[in-house]
This record gives sequence, C-alpha cells and structure tokens, in this order.
Amino acid sequence: MRLIDLHSPFVSSRRETLKRCAFLAASCFPGVQALAQNSAATPKLDVPYVPTPQEVVNRMLQIAKVGKNDLLYDLGCGDGRLVVTAARKYGARGIGIDIDPQRISEAKANAKKAGVGGKTEFKVGDLFATDLSDATVVTLYLLNSVNRKLRPQLWKQLKPGTRIVSHAFDMGDEWPPEKTEIVEGSTIYYWTITEAQKKLA
Ligand SMILES: C[S@@+](CC[C@H](N)C(=O)[O-])C[C@H]1O[C@@H](n2cnc3c(N)ncnc32)[C@H](O)[C@@H]1O
Repeated sequence: MRLIDLHSPFVSSRRETLKRCAFLAASCFPGVQALAQNSAATPKLDVPYVPTPQEVVNRMLQIAKVGKNDLLYDLGCGDGRLVVTAARKYGARGIGIDIDPQRISEAKANAKKAGVGGKTEFKVGDLFATDLSDATVVTLYLLNSVNRKLRPQLWKQLKPGTRIVSHAFDMGDEWPPEKTEIVEGSTIYYWTITEAQKKLA
C-alpha cells in the first residue's frame, strides 16, 4: 500500500475531505483499484480514473488564462475533458497522455465529437516518460505523492512562464502554490515555472 500524506493546509471543507478520502481509497486498496480498472489487461495506474467535474475544468482553464497560442498537456488525461475544453472554448492546442488505452480511445472520440480533432492529440504513455518541453500549460489531477515525484521533471523540462494547474493536490512544502481557489468544494492550485527553479533543477 502507498503511503499518502492526507494533511494539507488547503483542505477546506468537510465535503472536500470526504472527496479526497474516496479518491485516496481508490488509489490505496487493490480491490477498489481492480474495480476501477475493470480489466486484468489494464496497465498499472499510479492514480485511479476519476474525472474532474466540468465546473472545475472550466475554472482551471480560466485560472491558467488558456488562450489560442497555448499548448496544453494534461498528464493522465482520462476522457480528455481538459484538453477538449481548452481547444473548444479557447482554441488552444492540447496533448493528452494516459497510460490506459481505454481512456485514450474515449478521449479521441470526445475530441472528434466536439470538432477539435485537428487541435488535439491523445497518446497512450506514462506521464513520467513524457517530454513536456514544448508545453505552455500543464494540467494535473493526480495525487500528492505523484505530484511530488513529478516536480523535478516539471522544473527540468518546462520553460520559464509555463503555467501549471492541479485539481485537489498540491506539490508539498518545497513548492507552495502562487494561488489557490475553491470551486464546487474542490481546491485548485496554480504555479508558474520561474528562472530560479530552472537553476535548481
Ligand atoms: C484522476 S484521473 C484524471 C483524469 C483527467 N485528467 C481529469 O482531470 O478528468 C487520473 C488519470 O491518470 C491516469 N494515469 C494513472 N497513472 C498514469 C501514468 N503513470 N501515466 C499516465 N497516466 C496515468 C489514469 O488512467 C487516469 O485516467
């Protein structure tokens, strides 16, 4: 079983605490994980599939000020909703990465249905093995432990000025967010990459 830090100064409400517990339970217990993965052939997930509510998606993209010149990566993209919404509402290009082929099939179908197939790309892959150097925005809905493991990769690969938005999970004490906001009981965290972090990477 993974050890997960349930303490966060930003856990803002009982409702959010309950949501986080359900999410964390799904990531901790093999039985729940097996149900969530729904197939013996499904690759090992670092995070279970739980989609971000559309209201939270919309606000994450607003907080990151996504626009038509952006290239957004959603790491662990699920059904592609962040990438598809960024393309549909703001004309941004987007790349979704998910280790589960089933999610990538759903994301491609959703992009086609929304008429943004030309602006979006979805790839089966491990987020830790993905080159992020051309991203201008990165979106996340992972876990505290996964965010912390990802942080050195973000500092190393991303350009100064790149914006990062995370649903529900922070980056730990070493990288406090510049901004937080609560939407529909979920906390959204926001960071930008600075020259100082590039020097430390
Ligand atoms: C909580 S869901 C978030 C889905 C989507 N980003 C959203 O916010 O609606 C996490 C996703 O990460 C994917 N995932 C888990 N481990 C991964 C890994 N190592 N590399 C890429 N994707 C992964 C899961 O398949 C799942 O779809």
